Amino acid sequence: MQIFIDSADVREIREAASMGVIDGCTTNPSLVAKVGRKLEELIPEICSIVDGPVSAEVLSTDVDGMVAEGRILAKIHKNVVVKIPLIGEGLKAVRIFTAEGIKTNVTLCFSPMQALLAAKAGATYISPFVGRLDDIQYDGMELIEQLVTIYENYGFNTQILVASVRGPMHLVQSALIGAHCSTVPFSVIGQLLKHPLTDAGLEKFLADAKKMKA
Ligand code: E4P
Repeated sequence: MQIFIDSADVREIREAASMGVIDGCTTNPSLVAKVGRKLEELIPEICSIVDGPVSAEVLSTDVDGMVAEGRILAKIHKNVVVKIPLIGEGLKAVRIFTAEGIKTNVTLCFSPMQALLAAKAGATYISPFVGRLDDIQYDGMELIEQLVTIYENYGFNTQILVASVRGPMHLVQSALIGAHCSTVPFSVIGQLLKHPLTDAGLEKFLADAKKMKA
């Protein structure tokens, strides 16, 4: 399973990339607003750090606006993936981008039929938001199981990019179900790395090393 970082903070992205565990990056308007930077200067910097797909979201909600914005974003770097909300106008834009060879990430997916429509329009990635479903007492991971089955049943090439990840168990389940990729906040990457037995084992080895013959 590919792991993307869900962040617009270049310090976090650089740190995660330096560990060699990052296959791509996703941003959204909320994440970009949080770091107080302009999208057009931020995306090239992220592309210089991450050697893989970098999602940049359009802000228009009509097809013409989305296509105009997306074409500008796609010109920034070959790895830019245009992120588009899962609405009717968005699917029209996906269809146009697919014909132009521009990669798309259809975001804000909360149901299997939304995902089916996005795949039919030609989406490169679909982003089902598991954490936000869990937040409203639905089972986010059940949606991932449904999408894997539906896409396999009909041979769609759209990649399932599990989003709105809240913790390591979302990743474990995504990998077991067979999702193609998962986008995770920097804090969760830290949690994936941590194990108390690793820390205790290292502490003991370092203590014992002091008793080694020089
Ligand atoms: C996906 O691409 C989104 O950026 C993200 O995963 C949303 O996560 P949130 O529900 O934690 O905001």
